[in-house]
Amino acid sequence: MTILSQQPLRIGIAGLGTVGGGVAKLLAQNAEIIEQRTGRKLTVTAVSAKDKSEMEALPLGGAKWVADALALSDDVDVVVELIGGSEGIARKLVEKSLSAGKNVVTANKALLATHGLGLAQMAETSGATLAFEAAVAGGIPIIKAMRESLAGNRFSKVLGILNGTCNYILTEMWERKCSFDEALKDAQKLGYAEANPGFDVDGVDTAHKTAILASLAFGCAPDLAQVQATGIRGITLKDMESAAANNSRIKLLGVATLKDGKIAQRVQPCLVPASSPLYHVQGVVNGVIVEGDAVGTVFFQGRGAGSLPTASAVVADLMDMARGVAYKPFILPAAQLQALPPVKASETKTPLPIRIEDL
Ligand SMILES: NC(=O)c1ccc[n+]([C@@H]2O[C@H](COP(=O)([O-])OP(=O)(O)OC[C@H]3O[C@@H](n4cnc5c(N)ncnc54)[C@H](OP(=O)(O)O)[C@@H]3O)[C@@H](O)[C@H]2O)c1
Repeated sequence: MTILSQQPLRIGIAGLGTVGGGVAKLLAQNAEIIEQRTGRKLTVTAVSAKDKSEMEALPLGGAKWVADALALSDDVDVVVELIGGSEGIARKLVEKSLSAGKNVVTANKALLATHGLGLAQMAETSGATLAFEAAVAGGIPIIKAMRESLAGNRFSKVLGILNGTCNYILTEMWERKCSFDEALKDAQKLGYAEANPGFDVDGVDTAHKTAILASLAFGCAPDLAQVQATGIRGITLKDMESAAANNSRIKLLGVATLKDGKIAQRVQPCLVPASSPLYHVQGVVNGVIVEGDAVGTVFFQGRGAGSLPTASAVVADLMDMARGVAYKPFILPAAQLQALPPVKASETKTPLPIRIEDL
C-alpha cells in the first residue's frame, strides 16, 4: 500500500498567460474541493513569467517569483509548463525537470508532437510523470479516457474537430454567408484567432493533436512528420452549399486510422453528414470520436480551449500527482512505442473536402 504524503503539493507554474492565469485562478477558486478530493493542499509556491507584474492580478498567495523559468524546478514537486512552443525555453524547462525526476504537467501539444518520444524516455529513466491532458481538446478529458476508461479496447480510429478557431470560422461562413477572410477577421476581433492565424487555419495545431491521439490509440511514437495536413483557407461558400445539398457540413478534422497494420494520420476539411455527432459541433466547441472494438463509438464534446476549460484539464493532472497516480506518458513504455508503417500518400483519397465515410 502506498502511503501518500499529506504535505501540500508544491507547484511551480511557468507562463502566466491565458492558461497559466486560468490554472492559478482555478486552484484558488476551488481549493477546498480540490483538497477534499485529493486529501492534500495544492499550493502554487513558485511562478515564472516574462514580467513580474503578471502576478499581481492573480490569486497567487505567497508564491515566489522566479526570474529564470529554468530555475523553477528547484524547490517544487511539480513543474507546470505553460509557455508554449516546441523549442526554446519550454523544451529546456521540461527536459531539465524530467531529467531531475520532477513531475511535469504541460498543455504544449507542439512540444509533445515533436519531441514526445524523447520526453517519455527521459521521464521513464528518472521515474518522473509527464502529464498533458490539456494538450488535446482542452477541457475534454480525451487522454484520460483513452488511457484509463477505454484501455481495454483495440482502437481502429480516432477523429475529431480539434481546433475551435477553424470550427468557428467554418460555422460563421455558413451562418453569415460570408467569405473565409471575413470570418477570419471576425474570429481575430473576438480573440479566437491570432494576428498570425496560420497555425490554426493551415491545420498545424490540429496536426499536433492528431499526432498525440494517434500515439495513444495505436502505440506509436508521436510523429508530426507523418501527419498530412491541409487547412481551411481554400474552403468557399460554394463548397458549403454543395455540402448542404447533401445534408452535410464541412468541418476540419484530425483523423488517425489503423488499417491492416498501416497508420494514416491527416488533417483535412471533410464532409460531415447530419447523421454524425460531429455535424452538430458548432462554433468554438471541439468534438472527438473514438472507435474501439469493445465499446464501439464514443463521442466527446466540449470547450477545446480558453482559460478555465484548459485549466480544468491541467488541474486534473495536478490532482493525479497529488494522489500519487503515475503512468507512462503515451500509455506504453517508451521502448514499446513502435514505428508503424504509414499508408502511402497515393493510397489516401485527396479530393477536398473528403467524405467522412471515406476516411
Ligand atoms: N490558450 C488555450 O486555450 C490553450 C488550450 C490548450 C493548450 N494551450 C497550450 O498552452 C500553452 C500556453 O498557451 P497560452 O494560450 O496560455 O499562451 P499565452 O497566453 O501566450 O501564455 C504564455 C505565457 O508565457 C510567457 N512566457 C514567454 N516566455 C517566457 C519565459 N521565458 N519565462 C516565463 N514565461 C514566459 C508569455 O509572456 P509574454 O506574453 O510576455 O511573451 C505568456 O504570458 C501553449 O503550449 C498552448 O499551446 C493553450
